[in-house]
Amino acid sequence: MPENIDPITLRRPDDWHVHLRDGVMLAAVLPFTIRQFARAIVMPNLVPPVADVAAAYAYRERIRAALPLGSDFAPLMTCYLTDTTEPEEVARGYEKGVFTAVKLYPAWATTNSAFGVIDYDRITPVLECMAGLGMPLLIHGEVTDPEVDVFDRESVFIDRVLDPLRRRLPELRIVLEHITTKEAVDYVTSAGPNLAATITAHHLVINRNAIFAGGIRPHLYCLPIAKREKHRLALRRAATSGDERFFLGTDSAPHAFPTKETACGCAGIFTAPCALEIYAEVFEEEAALDRLEAFASLNGPQFYRLPPNDARITLRRESFTVPQRIGEGDRAVVPFRAGETLRWRLQV
Ligand code: DOR
Ligand code: ZN
Repeated sequence: MPENIDPITLRRPDDWHVHLRDGVMLAAVLPFTIRQFARAIVMPNLVPPVADVAAAYAYRERIRAALPLGSDFAPLMTCYLTDTTEPEEVARGYEKGVFTAVKLYPAWATTNSAFGVIDYDRITPVLECMAGLGMPLLIHGEVTDPEVDVFDRESVFIDRVLDPLRRRLPELRIVLEHITTKEAVDYVTSAGPNLAATITAHHLVINRNAIFAGGIRPHLYCLPIAKREKHRLALRRAATSGDERFFLGTDSAPHAFPTKETACGCAGIFTAPCALEIYAEVFEEEAALDRLEAFASLNGPQFYRLPPNDARITLRRESFTVPQRIGEGDRAVVPFRAGETLRWRLQV
């Protein structure tokens, strides 16, 4: 590895998939996201879910109120799709600039998805309305059929749900979120410009062995779960390919450590404290640092039909140790790669 490599300057990136939570947790984790990103697509899986315009407006106000004075960070809000979501509500939120996108969780697929979609026929009117508006649908792509092996849930979702849906509504603009498989990479690559995918930092770094290395590692448990090494390698190729349909979405998902280090722990990996630094490491390892800006700062805005950010950020090749914990007492969250030293550091 070359020493004293030049700093990297990029347009300021955005996070196209993040869980900011609410209340005390929001206040604890927001500084890490705004340190790196100008905008973020904010997930709506609160309790209760953010499923109408009023709830999204109020949540955006709470996020804005938690920002430090002078911050120009822009939270981009999503509408949690249920079987009973009204097309008029989605259209109204989009036209008012409250909703940027709609999020589809299959019911029971993940954290706080109990109100998610059960009957895909019932959401057809909303999806048709969104296709007409050009409004993106963001999909947690996993089937929940207990007969399907947990490691196959994404690839089966593509075959059983996503592909039929796209054939019925090819104009619908879709982001397949946090992809974890070669099948997903191949499917997105073979599709047209209406299908894109986000890729997390952690899925570029860990495979499923890491979850069991020397004992069970609850802080490496997330959904979709990390897969075999060949899938991680496919994700690295996709992210660093320069293909504009792949872009950055951390899926940073904080949970207080007692709810992870327990008999039945929550899914979610908290990468916000070091996400950009990890992506930089991955791109460096793949000899693709020249493509980091496309992945982190250009491809996402292009898909969302937003301008890229004008501001620039700088990453220096300087070691940085990820904190062991963020926050106090029982509310503390253990970040991804806690206590490890990374090679890049974002200048702030
Ligand atoms: O691991 C995950 N955590 N996957 C999700 O889809 C949801 C998220 C959360 O909200 O904690
Ligand atoms: Zn998520």
